[in-house]
Amino acid sequence: MAFVTIVGTGPGTQQYLIPEARQAIENADVLIGGERNLIPWIEQGQKKFYVIKTPVIEVVDRIKEHYQQEKVVILVSGDPGFYSILSFLTKYFDKKELKVIPGISSIQIAFARLSLAWHDAVLLNLHGRYLNILDNHLHEPKLALLTDFNNDPLTICQYLITKGRKHGLVYICSKLGYPEEKIITINLREEKLLIPEKVASPVVMVIIDE
Ligand SMILES: C[S@@+](CC[C@H](N)C(=O)[O-])C[C@H]1O[C@@H](n2cnc3c(N)ncnc32)[C@H](O)[C@@H]1O
Repeated sequence: MAFVTIVGTGPGTQQYLIPEARQAIENADVLIGGERNLIPWIEQGQKKFYVIKTPVIEVVDRIKEHYQQEKVVILVSGDPGFYSILSFLTKYFDKKELKVIPGISSIQIAFARLSLAWHDAVLLNLHGRYLNILDNHLHEPKLALLTDFNNDPLTICQYLITKGRKHGLVYICSKLGYPEEKIITINLREEKLLIPEKVASPVVMVIIDE
């Protein structure tokens, strides 16, 4: 049976790519993914590629055009099982047609950098979502958040404070795994939050009780 491979590429640099993922990408005939994930492979001379844009449904057509005859590999950041296109694809393909190769999630790297366990953390996705997802989790002792351009660290901190969370250390983990990786720590108790207007994305936030 023909299948499509969904590869978790980790945080974005090849240092964190597992060997099985590298092999699948190098042997692919067609690579599909977001620009950030595709660029390193396009630069290495990968021939056929397709950049995922909205409407995402078009990606299904692209896959269907190729996957019976060619090796199609979809690149997603982090791990495919944690907020990626995987659950969308399961609506259009039988699970037997999807081969998933895991990757290191941005959340795992963030907690590793902080030398903290994440088995007891609440993990939420604010990427393309509404901030009110936070409303049931305002006082979690350990919270990790995926962010995006609109739901950026400053907006999220201001929202938490407005909703009554006035304590906690916030770790703003920007470009994890890249040479420009940066972790900014702030305290929600501070009167003036010293967060730059725009922190370089992608960004994961970890919030813990002091
Ligand atoms: C669509 S979600 C995908 C999550 C991914 N499947 C994972 O396991 O990390 C994209 C979000 O992941 C986070 N992210 C991905 N790569 C990152 C990195 N290198 N550094 C910091 N955050 C990252 C950001 O919050 C970004 O907006």
